[in-house]
Amino acid sequence: SLHTVTTLPTARQPGCPFDPPAELIDARRHGPISRFPFPDGHQGWLVTGYDLVRSILADARFSSRKELMLHHPTIDMTGIEVPPAPPGEFLLMDEPQHSRYRKPLVGKFTVRRMRQLTERVEQITADHLDAMEKAGPPTDLVTAFAKPVPAIMICELLGVPYEDRGSFQENIDTFMSGEAGDEDLIAAYTSVQQYLAELVAAKRANPTDDILSELTDSDLTDEELKGMALILLAAGFDTTANMLALGTFALLRNPAQLAALRADPTLADKAVEELTRYLSVAKTFMRTALEDVEVGGQTIKAGTTVILSYNTANRDPERFTDPHVLDLRRQDGGHLAFGHGIHQCLGQQLARVEMRVAFPALVNRFPTLRLAVPAEEVSLRPEAADVYGVKSLPVTWDA
Ligand code: HEM
Repeated sequence: SLHTVTTLPTARQPGCPFDPPAELIDARRHGPISRFPFPDGHQGWLVTGYDLVRSILADARFSSRKELMLHHPTIDMTGIEVPPAPPGEFLLMDEPQHSRYRKPLVGKFTVRRMRQLTERVEQITADHLDAMEKAGPPTDLVTAFAKPVPAIMICELLGVPYEDRGSFQENIDTFMSGEAGDEDLIAAYTSVQQYLAELVAAKRANPTDDILSELTDSDLTDEELKGMALILLAAGFDTTANMLALGTFALLRNPAQLAALRADPTLADKAVEELTRYLSVAKTFMRTALEDVEVGGQTIKAGTTVILSYNTANRDPERFTDPHVLDLRRQDGGHLAFGHGIHQCLGQQLARVEMRVAFPALVNRFPTLRLAVPAEEVSLRPEAADVYGVKSLPVTWDA
C-alpha cells in the first residue's frame, strides 16, 4: 500500500542536525514516492528515491513554472494567485523562456572560467583567516568566514559593489532564512529589486569589467537583467555560505574525517563532493505535472504538485553505500545536490572552487579548531528555509 506523509517535518531529529528528518528517511523506506496532502487539500506527491527524483528532473513533462506552484507544503494557499516569475528569474521558468536567460550565462560559469578564479578565492580566504587570527578566539564562523568569502566572490563576478551590501545583505537573509512573515518578505524583496534596478541602469551607462556589464551588450532588457542579477546574487550569497558553515560543523563532529582532510591535501576535491552530498543544503524543490505521467508505478495527474526531496535522495541506501556516513573517500559519486536536467546549478563550478579552497585553508590554519559551545546548542535554520544551515557557529582554537 502507498505510504502517506501527512505534514512535512518542521525540525531535524535532536542530535542529528546533518540527517534529513526521520519522517523523510522513513518515507524512503516505504518506497521512492509517497502521497502528500497539501494544507489546502491538494493531493500531491513527495519523492524521496534517488532514481525517481533524477528522472523527474530530466522530464520536460514536469514544470518549474512559478505560476503553477499553486500549493505550498506548509502554507494553505487557497485563493492565493501566484503570478509568473518576473523577467530574468529563470529558476522558475520552462523552455524556451529559461534558455533565453541561462544561455548567455553558461559560458561565464564554466569549469575553466571558475578555475581561473582560484587565486582570487585563495586571497579572499587568506584575508579572512588572517582577520580571524588577529581578532583571536572565539568567533562566529558564519560572520567571520562562511558568509563573506562567497559573498565577495559573487559580488566581484557580477560587478555588485560589496561596500553596498548594507542595502541588500540583510534583505537576502530575510527572504532566504525561512523565518520571515509575508510582509517582511515582500518588503525585503522589493528593496533588493530597487537596488538592483539602479545598479543595472548604472552598468548600462558605465560598463565595468564584470558579468552584469557584459550582459548589457545583448538584447536583454534592464528588467530582465535585474531578475537575473537577483537570482545569481541570492544563490551566490546563501548556498556556499551555508555549505561552509554547516560543513565545518560536520567536520568537527567527525574528527577522523577532519584529520584525513588535514593530512591529505589531495582529498579536497572528493571531500567537497561528499560534504555536498551529505549535507545537501538546497534540500527541496517542487515541480508540477503538465500532463498525466506514469512514474514509479503511480500516475501523477496533470496539474499535480510534486515535492522532490534532494537531501533524502542523496541518502538513498539503494544508490549510496552507508548513505548516512560522512566518508570523504567515498567512491560512489553522482549526487543530486546541484540538481539535474535543465535547471542544474549554474554556479556549481564556482561553489566547488570556493569550497576546495576554503575548507582545507580553514582547517589547516587552525589545527585546534573546535566548537565553542556544546553541539546541541548550535542554532540551526528551520526546515522551512529553502537552504539549510546553521544560523551561527561559535568556534574557538588555541591562540
Ligand atoms: C540552481 C544547489 C551554489 C546559482 C540550483 C539547483 C540546486 C542548486 C539544487 C537546482 C534547482 C532546481 O532543481 O530547480 C546549489 C548548491 C550550491 C549552489 C548546493 C552551493 C554549494 C550556487 C552559486 C550560484 C548558484 C554559488 C551563483 C552563481 C544557481 C542558479 C540556478 C541554480 C542561477 C538556477 C539554474 C536554472 O534554473 O537553470 N542550485 N547551488 N548556485 N543555482 Fe545553485
